[in-house]
Amino acid sequence: MAMSSVMGLGCALQRLAVVPKASVSMVESSLSSSGFGAQLSDATTLGSHVRRRRRSSVSSAKGSGGGRSHLQLLQSEFVPLMGIRRKIFSGASVTTVRGRSSVVGVVRSMVSSDPEQLRGAREEIKKVLAEKFCHPILIRLGWHDAGTYDKSVAEWPKRGGANGSLRFSIELDHAANAGLIGAIKLLEPVKEKFPNISYADLFQLASATAIEDAGGPKIPMRYGRRDTSGPEECINEGNLPSAGPPSPASHLRQVFYRMGLNDQDIVALSGAHTLGRSRPERSGWGKPVTKYTKDGPGAPGGQSWTREWLRFDNSYFRDIKEKRDQELLVLPTDAVLFEDPGFKQFAEKYAVDEATFFKDYAESHAKLSELGSEFSPPEGIYIDKKPSTAEKFVSST
Ligand code: HEM
Repeated sequence: MAMSSVMGLGCALQRLAVVPKASVSMVESSLSSSGFGAQLSDATTLGSHVRRRRRSSVSSAKGSGGGRSHLQLLQSEFVPLMGIRRKIFSGASVTTVRGRSSVVGVVRSMVSSDPEQLRGAREEIKKVLAEKFCHPILIRLGWHDAGTYDKSVAEWPKRGGANGSLRFSIELDHAANAGLIGAIKLLEPVKEKFPNISYADLFQLASATAIEDAGGPKIPMRYGRRDTSGPEECINEGNLPSAGPPSPASHLRQVFYRMGLNDQDIVALSGAHTLGRSRPERSGWGKPVTKYTKDGPGAPGGQSWTREWLRFDNSYFRDIKEKRDQELLVLPTDAVLFEDPGFKQFAEKYAVDEATFFKDYAESHAKLSELGSEFSPPEGIYIDKKPSTAEKFVSST
């Protein structure tokens, strides 16, 4: 593909300039991937051709490119081009003419994750969990990718949701997502090793695997989510909940009802705070360190909701009800679960009945993980035996 063809991609390339470099490596890592291998007649040739162009640009450091030298192109557009190659790969037909590939027309294609790769990625995620104790942040990543969904918007991906858009810096930079770049970095090697799965699937796979690995219920997950292809498809800031709004109950309802979820989902999903910590330098909430977090595991510090904050159980509901231990965190949106009558009926039940909490959590988590997603094939991909009603919500422990 000649540089002039690259330049001819006009608006796509203009967007390159706004792809922040921090996001380039993650997107770049998906270059050969994309899950589009079969659709591309010569993806490898195109990839290596781009690499060849890059080398020749560096060595000649002169040339046309609209009056700018190749070196200038390298600096101003080529580096970001690496970041958008996935877009070119995923959104275009590629033909090969005498060993050269060229982009001939944009067709919005669907990602279809490979079931074998999904299973392989799951095993790889388990290794990362065992080494880094990063269950909570991976769960938060999946939730924040999905939780932007707006059911009143029909069009994908404008409606937000679990579509992998959280990999782009523009969305990672939203205040609510502070710290989640760490989760992206942890998953980058997994994506490199298993390129034929979508980011949207990877984020949800990591979250469900973390819940199960921490002793939580088996989540009846479906895969095959389609990925957003560029930062311009990210949703505007403001769809995720605040922890200290003036009226926590109505705020939670406003946010979760917008996603199509109900009071039971709100209470069950809040139970994910049985895991993890809040860090003042990220969200502004919590103490810098407590007796439960000073030694890690993982990076020490922050304030947890529960004593054993790497074990998934129903202790969150008991602890936020009692509010006896000053070392444990209770956000205004946690406290309201025992104050508002609509929420309280579920919170009281979960505090005494872990099996019901696990069953309801698994159901709500599966719902959350599919918000706004478009699946290919439409019925999705199951990497375990498709759950029957009888065995659907069984604890993994
Ligand atoms: C109900 C509304 C929610 C609010 C207001 C809220 C708020 C917060 C806040 C302020 C933090 C601390 C972040 C930090 O400082 O790093 C946090 C952490 C966390 N949240 Fe939520 N959250 C909500 C719902 C959820 C849901 C639905 C899930 C998952 C299903 C979830 C999972 C987590 C996890 C696992 C952490 C710990 C992250 C870590 O340790 O790195 N949260 N949440």
